[in-house]
Amino acid sequence: MHIPDGLIPFSQYILYWLFIFPPVYLSLRWARQQMDEVKMPLLAVLAVGLVFMKFARKNRVVTPGSDAGDASIGDDDNSNINNSSSSDSNGNGNDNGNGWLSEERDWGTPYIVETRDLTHIYHSGTTTALDGINFSVNPGERVVLLGANGAGKSTLFKHLNGILKPTSGQVLVKGQPITTSNIKDVRKTVGVVFQNPDDQIFSPTVAQDVAFGPINLGLPPDRVESRVKWALEMVRLTGYEERAPHHLSGGEKKRVAIAGILAMKPEVLILDEPTTGLDPGAAVRLMRLIMEMNKNLGITMIIATHEVDLVPEFAQRVCVMSGGKIIGEGTPMEIFGRTDLIAKTHLRLPVVAQLMTKLKEAGLDVAMELTVDEARDEILRVAGRRE
Ligand SMILES: Nc1ncnc2c1ncn2[C@@H]1O[C@H](COP(=O)(O)OP(=O)(O)OP(=O)(O)O)[C@@H](O)[C@H]1O
Ligand SMILES: [Mg+2]
Repeated sequence: MHIPDGLIPFSQYILYWLFIFPPVYLSLRWARQQMDEVKMPLLAVLAVGLVFMKFARKNRVVTPGSDAGDASIGDDDNSNINNSSSSDSNGNGNDNGNGWLSEERDWGTPYIVETRDLTHIYHSGTTTALDGINFSVNPGERVVLLGANGAGKSTLFKHLNGILKPTSGQVLVKGQPITTSNIKDVRKTVGVVFQNPDDQIFSPTVAQDVAFGPINLGLPPDRVESRVKWALEMVRLTGYEERAPHHLSGGEKKRVAIAGILAMKPEVLILDEPTTGLDPGAAVRLMRLIMEMNKNLGITMIIATHEVDLVPEFAQRVCVMSGGKIIGEGTPMEIFGRTDLIAKTHLRLPVVAQLMTKLKEAGLDVAMELTVDEARDEILRVAGRRE
């Protein structure tokens, strides 16, 4: 049964008066014998009010979309990224098989996140960091924003969850322009992991820091605790709960920052240079985690990077940014096939692509490949060791 937020069913009122009122009444009578009559009415009102508030709070019914919980995103605190058939633990029938994504798709646009002619000029007035950006992402997509230093990637990301306001143009999340009235929902939907973890981490312990988002969503303590546990497991920081974040290494801080966003279970996860500062093992594990979350849970992933070697394995689509504009868009193969475009961005081809280019120049009839496995297969084929 669907009961509006804050309302208690009539039968519970009856029970309340039957079981709570007699002891309260007897206590008040006893108190009356002890105190003078002037203070009595005040005491009575206070006692009944306190008991009632406690009862009403305990029985508050969370409705989808209310601030008291994230039933709207089908929360499942036992969800595991390898278990795509997780069920909805709060019994709201949101068992959509992907952990916490909403099934609603009728946004009036195919995109979960979209910018229209987005321009941003920083207050100094001298830098047009974004210049008429039209950037759109489909639900469940894995997109890489590729661009050199100063291209505008971080500025674009800060618009996607309302941290920065456009100078002109629009930012839409699930078809809705971001406004002050929907900003809380926007931040529940779109989680941004900043480039610098120090911008994001501020609590005295790791556990408190990761708990900050879920507490802000209004989740009860047991759910906050399970989310913190889950998010720290995801980034392999179990055991770090009581550590002070400012005593962690750069890579560990980065993983705390990621856990803090994961703990809010966003539908769109935006990571600004996620592997910067991570050792190669941690970077590979993180990228694997991101891929699994996308494939098994359907979370939309948007990543900014200039580490071109990461792109072919990860991206379904690449948007190339330069000077505050998107100057190219396509699959990794299409983008890295355009040497003019890569030259403009001051980036380079992935190492594997460079090797294939050099083999071709040396007279070997190899096709362009971008990943190590594909390159191995292609070279073996040309060497006659494979069909
Ligand atoms: N707070 C600010 N005030 C003024 N200008 C800024 C501010 N932040 C960024 N800029 C400028 O906006 C442009 C885009 O910066 P942005 O940080 O978005 O680039 P980026 O693509 O994320 O670069 P990087 O790869 O170095 O992180 C740059 O020219 C930068 O100097
Ligand atoms: Mg940046």
